[in-house]
Amino acid sequence: MRLLIMGPPGSGKGTQAVHIAHLLGIPAISTGDIFRTNVAEETAMGRIAREYMDAGEYVPDQVTNTMVRDRLAEPDCASGFLLDGYPRTLQQVDELDQVLAATGADLDAVVELVVDQGVLIDRLLLRARSEGRADDTAEVIRRRQELFAEQTAPLTIRYADRGLLHLVDGDGPVELVTARVTDVLAESRAAVGSSR
Ligand code: AP5
Repeated sequence: MRLLIMGPPGSGKGTQAVHIAHLLGIPAISTGDIFRTNVAEETAMGRIAREYMDAGEYVPDQVTNTMVRDRLAEPDCASGFLLDGYPRTLQQVDELDQVLAATGADLDAVVELVVDQGVLIDRLLLRARSEGRADDTAEVIRRRQELFAEQTAPLTIRYADRGLLHLVDGDGPVELVTARVTDVLAESRAAVGSSR
């Protein structure tokens, strides 16, 4: 399966991506994690990314698109993948469309996790205390939320128009949210199967 998981900062994309990808036997690809690894290793890409991430801004499309294109060309993605946190801009949607078109593959589903704003902020402030992520300060969280609302939330309309979008309640215990996502994916597979 080729899947996307979307949602605002703190909605649980990364947490759910790992579980769902494991259950489906496909790689979970988190652009945020790849950037953080590069920042920690002080690579050239990491030095560029850090400046944007620390401010809660998006890393430029050119950098992000090249990174994702290269990652999707790796052999473990041949039979599917779950992208977490990509695409976030219209240019990234177009890039992903081109990468998929070049291989003759289609997306199977896009899951958007829906969680109340107050819960999101509580989760991120809690993580700030336990993990000390540089972008989990109150000010940067606000900027990340703003950017999501301005640039990323509108993208879901594109996927809704293609009949791929599934809204999933992301509040509640992690296992319950995973079960909601797998149910939705199973239903969408059954619907595709019955229409063939
Ligand atoms: P990224 O790491 O993707 O950050 P984000 O989108 O802000 O999302 P988070 O990781 O904060 O939240 P999440 O939704 O993944 O939730 P999580 O599972 O972690 O990106 C970081 C930065 O990289 C961006 O700001 C940008 O600079 C750059 N970047 C990344 N992708 C990019 C792109 N495509 N283009 C340009 N720039 C890009 O959970 C959050 C917390 O909640 C955790 O502590 C978790 O344990 C907890 N939690 C999760 N689920 C539950 C639950 N059900 N109940 C209670 N707690 C829960």
